[in-house]
Amino acid sequence: MVALARALRPAATNSTFADDVLAGLKATPKRLAAKYFYDAEGSLLFERITELPEYYPTRCEMQILREKGAEIAKLIAPSSALVEFGSGSNKKVRLLLRRAPQLAAYVPVDICGEMVEHEEADLRRDFPKLNIEPVVADICLPFALPPAAAASPRRIGFFPGSTIGNFEPHEAAGFLRNAADILGPGATLIVGADLIKATNILHAAYNDAQGVTAKFNKNLLVRINRELHGNFKLDQFEHHAFFNRERSRIEMHLASKKKQKAKVAGHTIEFRAGETIHTENSYKYSLESLSALARGVGWMPCAHWIDPMGYFSIQAFTLSNAAR
Ligand code: AVJ
Repeated sequence: MVALARALRPAATNSTFADDVLAGLKATPKRLAAKYFYDAEGSLLFERITELPEYYPTRCEMQILREKGAEIAKLIAPSSALVEFGSGSNKKVRLLLRRAPQLAAYVPVDICGEMVEHEEADLRRDFPKLNIEPVVADICLPFALPPAAAASPRRIGFFPGSTIGNFEPHEAAGFLRNAADILGPGATLIVGADLIKATNILHAAYNDAQGVTAKFNKNLLVRINRELHGNFKLDQFEHHAFFNRERSRIEMHLASKKKQKAKVAGHTIEFRAGETIHTENSYKYSLESLSALARGVGWMPCAHWIDPMGYFSIQAFTLSNAAR
């Protein structure tokens, strides 16, 4: 899960972070990109979130992979290559790899080279016969597959963690289109997506009693203070997270408790009392809404699995054999 979130991390040059933060804080309404949550501290906080009693997505997805992994692995044709989009942690893919001896290659793709290398050694030890060919790339942009994966008769994509929920719907469609181009004719794609559900359950998952999610949200200000010479007063901002049912997304914001100013990289940012910085959208899908998005860019729904609580889905899609 951590890993997947990391997939959204930029090729972090500090100037990009500075430019994005300043542009976002000068915009109306104020906003910051969720990909910036995942510095070292943010990644640790996210890992703690995945263990919270209220935060069900990671547990539900792992349960599906444990209980239905063998069935899911049947979608993997002989000698295929498995391409994982955003692969910082291999906890989830392992549940597929160990049931798919027919795989010719595994291609973890992540924007963070360090992550890819770090995980590679462990995997090589545990799957000595598997051909592992990591790629450092932005999963939303075209990239070339390494030789063994390109030469394999079929490719299967894996995008767990509901990372797709961080994309705006048009961006999610863009990701799916790019994945289709990369994986090619006859490909399969397996996506983990959080489902639309009762407001109280969604609300609790993003407003945990221990305040870890609040800390994760506020860590963005900590990061700005440290990396961009900011002087945000952490106790003058509040964590707000709520389900926007009309747009089918959890929104996270940081709300200013009072009228105040903050300095960032020499620029002064003014806040009205109650004004918020929009820090994250986490879109929730139904089987139908994600299928519609996928169909729109050529993916045909072929199977899905849902945990016993009905909270989380793993959905599989295929591309026709004909070249596009
Ligand atoms: C990593 C994007 C799936 O949206 O649930 C968790 C991030 N934000 N708690 C999610 C997150 C607040 C997470 N994703």
